[in-house]
Amino acid sequence: MKLDKEKIIITSALPYANGPIHLGHLSGAYLPADIYVRYKRLLGADILYICGSDEHGVPITITADKENVKPQVVIDRFHNINKDAFEKFGMSFDIYSRTSLPVHHETSKEFFLNYYKQGILNEKKSLQFYDEKAKMFLPDRYVEGTCPNCGNEQARSDECENCGALYDPSDLKNPKSKITGETPVLKETSHYYFPLGKYQKRLEEYVASMNEKYGWKENVLQYCRGWFKDGLQDRAVTRDLDWGVQVPLEEASGKVLYVWFEAVLGYISATKELSQKLGKPELWKEYWQNPETKYVAFIGKDNIVFHTIFFPAMLMAWNDAREDKYILPQNVPANEFLNFEGKKFSKSRNWGIDVIDFLKLFPADPLRYTLAANLPENRDTDFYWKEFQSRNNSELADILGNFVNRTFTFVHKHFEGKVPQPGTLLPIDSQMLELIEGYPKKVSEYFEQYKIKDGVNEIMSLARAGNKYFNDSEPWKSVKSDRERCQTTLYVCLEAIYTLAELFYPVIPFSAERLFNMLNAKPVQWDKSGSKNLPAGHQLNKAEILFTKIEDKVIEEQTSRLGQAEEPVAVEKFEEITIDDFFKVQLRTAVITHAENVPKSEKLVKLKVDLGFEKRQVVAGIAKSFKPEELVGKRIIMVANLKPAKLMGLESQGMILAVDNGKGGVSLLEVDENVKTGTRAK
Ligand code: MF3
Ligand code: ZN
Repeated sequence: MKLDKEKIIITSALPYANGPIHLGHLSGAYLPADIYVRYKRLLGADILYICGSDEHGVPITITADKENVKPQVVIDRFHNINKDAFEKFGMSFDIYSRTSLPVHHETSKEFFLNYYKQGILNEKKSLQFYDEKAKMFLPDRYVEGTCPNCGNEQARSDECENCGALYDPSDLKNPKSKITGETPVLKETSHYYFPLGKYQKRLEEYVASMNEKYGWKENVLQYCRGWFKDGLQDRAVTRDLDWGVQVPLEEASGKVLYVWFEAVLGYISATKELSQKLGKPELWKEYWQNPETKYVAFIGKDNIVFHTIFFPAMLMAWNDAREDKYILPQNVPANEFLNFEGKKFSKSRNWGIDVIDFLKLFPADPLRYTLAANLPENRDTDFYWKEFQSRNNSELADILGNFVNRTFTFVHKHFEGKVPQPGTLLPIDSQMLELIEGYPKKVSEYFEQYKIKDGVNEIMSLARAGNKYFNDSEPWKSVKSDRERCQTTLYVCLEAIYTLAELFYPVIPFSAERLFNMLNAKPVQWDKSGSKNLPAGHQLNKAEILFTKIEDKVIEEQTSRLGQAEEPVAVEKFEEITIDDFFKVQLRTAVITHAENVPKSEKLVKLKVDLGFEKRQVVAGIAKSFKPEELVGKRIIMVANLKPAKLMGLESQGMILAVDNGKGGVSLLEVDENVKTGTRAK
């Protein structure tokens, strides 16, 4: 069956839910995918865009250990933080799922059992480090010792990052458990191995044929060739760990599936979750098990082997024995890394910025545009604050914003905000119209080859051409001397703006939407967007400023904070109290049920709070940090036995706990829904 609409699955690597997303992540696997997806949707493709949190594996347990909490606490926190950050950044996932869901555990077990029953997996015994104090086997990253080859004292249990040596764990000198600091013992354990080597030939053919048909990126091919040259080895797909998807075999209790084995299957289980949410539980099959579907996996370079070798081999092994066959990735346009001001992102050295923090300072679109115009598609690139400022000020504001603004201002002033009727076209006009007409195709050609960066830079050149056309046509003169000439000029400018709105929509969706509102129009299908979309007489809406300039001092503040250790808080001398003193204070949880600003006060809000056993009115000095509607529903902690006081004539029956955030605002102390309202804090 030939489909008339392209059917596409797009995935972005599932980020580990053990830390916040930073700009480097966005440039690698998320922004380019989102631009591609939005572009394909405008072409009318039938597309599913899938992502979610990767919630198992050692990265999660290490974070949990460091914080002394359960892994569940870590994944719940970062799943929500990252989901929210992606949303604010304008990522248009059809679903943002998580691998801790039952549907994912079932899917992963089904794959494992299928291989197991086919006899594909080999069971092998090996010696692994075991921490007798913690009573657990230690994954690679939990053991540190001295490299038998170069003497590096921070070598892992079976490989040294310093000299690249691979060795048997029994050869590591002076091994130490990172959990207890004890010397671990070597103990026999048994694991299941996936025989990657058996698939090597077919994998080589697969990569070669996909490259031939669809043109894979050179960096991706390089990595694959390297792996093939070294020869693919059996890979253990189980681990001795208590966090993850349980191995569904009785004799393997206490073991979980290797995180990469199940994480890649997360794309499939996330699609299943989406299907269930849409009320069509079988829908996922129409994509994943349909040979007409095109599947493209967007990732960063550190994930290449898992998407071009490991995952395809797993799918081949499944397909060999089954009727319900899966499609394999048609392309894996992996990006290199984005660095930050010349160095690697580093949380501990305070080098870089998280997405969520960035978006508290600036809107999403200037960031999307800056990252898109400089994607690490072929080599590592850098984010520089100064470049961000100039992309915003000199390109978005001065080129695109200015072209839109001067055109709209002119049309409102001289043509009552209506698209003017064009007259006879001179060469300058026909050339410009031709240029506009050719743009969607030109940009498409880049996007189709995953050259997102080139496509984006090309779009800006249309705005540049628009400004030049406006200048050369001098409508401020012709409006007095030759009105028909002037009408033609503005008509052509508006066509250019319409096309810019369409082409920029995948890149800077928030601004493009505002632009469409100003044009009082909607996007058409991408390939029809070239021109003749705004008929003469069409009424435009009022112009708005699309981009605000960023001042030097705002940028300087950011650069000066880089690499600085956080200053310790200045503390005044304090007096000790006894536990009895402390218990004089009744700290209790309460829910804010109502909030309104206190008239004539910049600082105060009037709150109604529910303590469960009674309701109170509290006047709090937090108006500068929160809008009333943001406060309602918050579960806070308050001093419940404070003597009532009057503030600006209003009675306040308690005090809400808040801390100064050092930036002129406050953060509230909040509790989660698990805590009963009115519970005493101690
Ligand atoms: N969590 C991995 C990382 O952040 C990526 C997993 S991609 C998947 O590097 F395909 F396995 F899900
Ligand atoms: Zn070494």
